[in-house]
Amino acid sequence: MSSAGPPQPEPELLAAFRDAGQEHVFAFWSELDEARRAELARQAGTVDLALVTRLFREADAGRLANPEIAPFPVIGADDAGRGRARAAGQDALGRGVVGFVTVAGGQATRLGFGPPKGARAVGPVSGKSLFRWHAEKVQATSLRYGHAIPWAIMTSDANDRATEELFEAEGWFGLEGQVRFVRQQMLPAMDGTGRIVLQDAGRIAMSPNGHGGVIDALGRGGALDWFAERGVEYLSYFQVDNPLVNPADPVFLGFQVERESEMSAKVVRKRDPLEKAGVVVLLGGRPGVLEYTELPEELARSEDSDGHLRFGWANIAAHVFTRTFLERMQGWALPWHAARKSVPGIDQEGRAVHVPALKFETFIFDAIPEARNFLALETSREEEFAPLKNAEGENSPVTVRAAILARTRRWYSTLGLRAPEDPDLLEIGPLEAYDLETFAEYVGRVAGGGQE
Ligand code: UTP
Repeated sequence: MSSAGPPQPEPELLAAFRDAGQEHVFAFWSELDEARRAELARQAGTVDLALVTRLFREADAGRLANPEIAPFPVIGADDAGRGRARAAGQDALGRGVVGFVTVAGGQATRLGFGPPKGARAVGPVSGKSLFRWHAEKVQATSLRYGHAIPWAIMTSDANDRATEELFEAEGWFGLEGQVRFVRQQMLPAMDGTGRIVLQDAGRIAMSPNGHGGVIDALGRGGALDWFAERGVEYLSYFQVDNPLVNPADPVFLGFQVERESEMSAKVVRKRDPLEKAGVVVLLGGRPGVLEYTELPEELARSEDSDGHLRFGWANIAAHVFTRTFLERMQGWALPWHAARKSVPGIDQEGRAVHVPALKFETFIFDAIPEARNFLALETSREEEFAPLKNAEGENSPVTVRAAILARTRRWYSTLGLRAPEDPDLLEIGPLEAYDLETFAEYVGRVAGGGQE
């Protein structure tokens, strides 16, 4: 559009938005300079109007037609098959057929505005960022198994530039060529009447399409082919906000290999019946994850004959997929979930307001019912799950730091060693050790006069 042109966007774009009842998106067009017009037109061009119209209409339809809910048989932490699984997982890692996938495209609204979540400091003493913490695991595992483990990271418009700049500034954490970014799709937020929310006069309030968007992003972004070229058959998936996660757990990988599972999940016992966590269950006979809001309280509280919660296996969002499963899932539509959230925006007069809005997301765990031989493996929360979600209180920087330090202390005491009293001496980064086994090796190296 030339600056001499009328204060209108391209006719086709405008017509599409008008037909969808969304032409207010361009209400402030005449007030925008050329650059902002171009940006708004670009953004508007990415909106799938038919999809958002349908999602708004169906937002309250509910996805469950009351399927029968039954417990799912989880592989327990003391399962007799663990030893064999470990060997199979070590073999897979040693053959170089494992890659990592991290989802880091979320907006981190609960944590608050600022840098991407992955840039937040979690090293209890060093202040190392979440990205560095995970990058050290990639490095450590690559060294340990003799293969450069390829690592795909999903970002979104909300944070891709800042994330890529961080990696560049940090010299790719020593992983140049081993890391590939993919970008997920964004969707507009809609107000209570189905109108697209404007963040400001020249911008639509968009949000990423949920961690389920990773399937499409990996395919469309070329990462599945990239993994295939590198011989990767299994993808270990984790969320950027959990520093304790161990993507190279040979036992988990080994069960996946041995049982020819297309997707698997790690679970921990719920802390209490009403903990706000999705649980792995059978839904109408098929495995899946039920969100805590969907589990009736009576069922949430029910116990089995051993006194355990019948529906007590919380999903910690650590999965393994086969690459071929993700290839098969390309183009398959995960169900949509609508979340009601307050979104910073403007009203029709252009005044800044908080708009009660609907945001639409897909969740990766909704792929579970589609996977052949899905399995779930019990792990320990203290070892593997301490997500950074909130600025204060539960799952906040304070609790994450405490969880990292407590785990290190436990590693010392499990080996019959005394942990340093001084917390400043207590940080063990993933490059030194990322689980009890690698910690025992680290201690051995140090005792043997290694370079640490
Ligand atoms: P959460 O659902 O906790 O979202 O994401 P969030 O963005 O981190 O935080 P809130 O809800 O806005 O406060 C769990 C993981 O999934 C990723 C996040 O980056 C995080 O690692 N995620 C979430 C995506 O990659 N894309 C999304 O659209 C949503």
